[in-house]
Amino acid sequence: MCGIVGYCGKKNATDIIIHGLKNLEYRGYDSAGISVITKDSIKTIKSVGKLDKLEEVYKSNPIKGNVGIGHTRWATHGNVNLENAHPHLNSKNTISLVHNGVIDNYLELKEELEKEGYKFKSKTDTEVIVQLIDFYYNGNLLNAVLKTVKRLVGSYALGVVCNDNPSELIAVRNNCPLIVGFAEDGFIISSEISSIIENTNKVVYMDNKEIAQFNLNNTYKFFNYNLDEIEKEIETMDLNKDSISKNGFEHYMLKEIFEQPDAIRNLLDKRVINGKINLGESFFTAEEIKEFEKIYIIACGTAFHAGEIAKFAIQNFTGRQVQVEIASEFNYNQKFVDDKTLAIFVSQSGETADTLLALEEAKKLSAKTLAIVNAQNSTMTKQADKVMYCYCGPEISVASTKAFTTQLILLYLLALDMAEKLGTLSEDKIKSYLDELKTIPERISEILERKDNFRNIAEELKNQESVFYTGRGIDFTTAKEGALKLKEVSYIHTEAFASGELKHGSIALIDDSTKVIAIISQEHTAKKTAINLEELTARGASIYTITDFDDNTIKQNSKEVIKFARTTDFFAPLLSVIPAQLIAYYTSLARGNDVDKPRNLAKAVTVE
Ligand code: AGP
Ligand code: GLU
Repeated sequence: MCGIVGYCGKKNATDIIIHGLKNLEYRGYDSAGISVITKDSIKTIKSVGKLDKLEEVYKSNPIKGNVGIGHTRWATHGNVNLENAHPHLNSKNTISLVHNGVIDNYLELKEELEKEGYKFKSKTDTEVIVQLIDFYYNGNLLNAVLKTVKRLVGSYALGVVCNDNPSELIAVRNNCPLIVGFAEDGFIISSEISSIIENTNKVVYMDNKEIAQFNLNNTYKFFNYNLDEIEKEIETMDLNKDSISKNGFEHYMLKEIFEQPDAIRNLLDKRVINGKINLGESFFTAEEIKEFEKIYIIACGTAFHAGEIAKFAIQNFTGRQVQVEIASEFNYNQKFVDDKTLAIFVSQSGETADTLLALEEAKKLSAKTLAIVNAQNSTMTKQADKVMYCYCGPEISVASTKAFTTQLILLYLLALDMAEKLGTLSEDKIKSYLDELKTIPERISEILERKDNFRNIAEELKNQESVFYTGRGIDFTTAKEGALKLKEVSYIHTEAFASGELKHGSIALIDDSTKVIAIISQEHTAKKTAINLEELTARGASIYTITDFDDNTIKQNSKEVIKFARTTDFFAPLLSVIPAQLIAYYTSLARGNDVDKPRNLAKAVTVE
């Protein structure tokens, strides 16, 4: 689930691969390794833990060669140890392979190979792939890899090298991302653009069931699984090295939080032209929108929260009911999706396996599909009928921040576009909502200016065993996002509860050591939530309230009031989430955690 990097070219493969793997580090991993073809054999080094350890091994044992593969592993099968770390080799040490993904039928294949006398050193699903290549290998690496992948059920991106074909690198993709960079000195393959752009901005995005062959003599070919050669268009990316730098910030998470005003401004400039919403090629016509009887929003994690928040706006603006589902739940439950359904998929990476599977399911049921995605050319963007990009630049920190707020902007614009086409909102009302959205970047900047205040709150939270978030309606969904953010980067148990639900159970947990973060931004529920705060303070809880109201009950019941500028209720999460992001960041920092790469998490979750 983490990453692959491979190189075939004039430079030293080891340097390029290790550097490339470093750019993938943020995706989360537990061990790493590389194999490089040297003058006399394939040299492989592995390490458990961070890449620094691999570099140490490399420094005491330098490897020189022009063709190689590297991997950062996020274990799915088998413990985190050296035996299970990639690359995996055949028993003669002549073929080496890195794999990203999961092989569903590995046990059957393993049994079959064991009957042929093959012995396995690791507990991974991956090792069957390299043994099967060995089984089919008779001098032609491409053919052996092809025969092998035709037997695999599951998801995989593979990089393969072989000692008998020392100038060749083979790459295959099925349901896990794989990109090829065409640099002047050679070819670089990677799970992600971030480890390619320092070498070149000329790239090819491999599609599912495609296999590529690269040679040191600077030739390459792409094939489908029938071995028909295919033409791939080389695209020029308009990204540069700066988009993956920290730009003076201590962490990517902080940089990305601070990028939000500009990201939202740029997106609005792109999508609102001369006061009119312009969704580019992604718009649905009035006829299509009128046909939609059901609207689904399907996503995971933070993207799911964006969907939950947007539901309120879409329902109110269009009068259409919206169903928001966690992708992994949607996939295995009864679905009410048909050809009159609009299914919207929200994802930063565009590679989340649960969401991709839901997209496939919705398509099978004939839904019209729209993907709201940040990572350009990712798998989801190829599979959905229509795509809306967040255009917020690479999001490197595992904790999603700027992708969330830009996803929300797109969902709001979609809601307004639909309302316009359905005639459910007047032109004036739409204009006033668009004007309101334009004020958001500056209001976010106002909150960001007070960043030191959040550092102080973090100091007060850092030793808690648990923290609660609370709110009602839209505020409850923002509270869930606040809780997810805080737990994932601070490792403090954090839970969000609907303010009115408190008395139905969660109140049993409240005592004078409890710290609660409340969000109050909705006109019609503010008073009610304020009263719920009384129930908490009566039991000794300390409350930090993120609010745009000037209310005495709130003030009296809050240890601290975190104010933000009043905006339309529907758009308030764009502002109320900012303190929650900063509290999470500074609490993680105060606890000495690895902010950008929290334990056990991965940036792109490419397994179910
Ligand atoms: C966000 O902070 C999380 N790390 C995670 O919940 C994430 O939002 C989720 O895995 C979905 O990822 P996606 O947006 O790339 O599909
Ligand atoms: N399933 C493989 C393993 O557990 C690959 C995991 C990955 O994609 O990092 O080793």
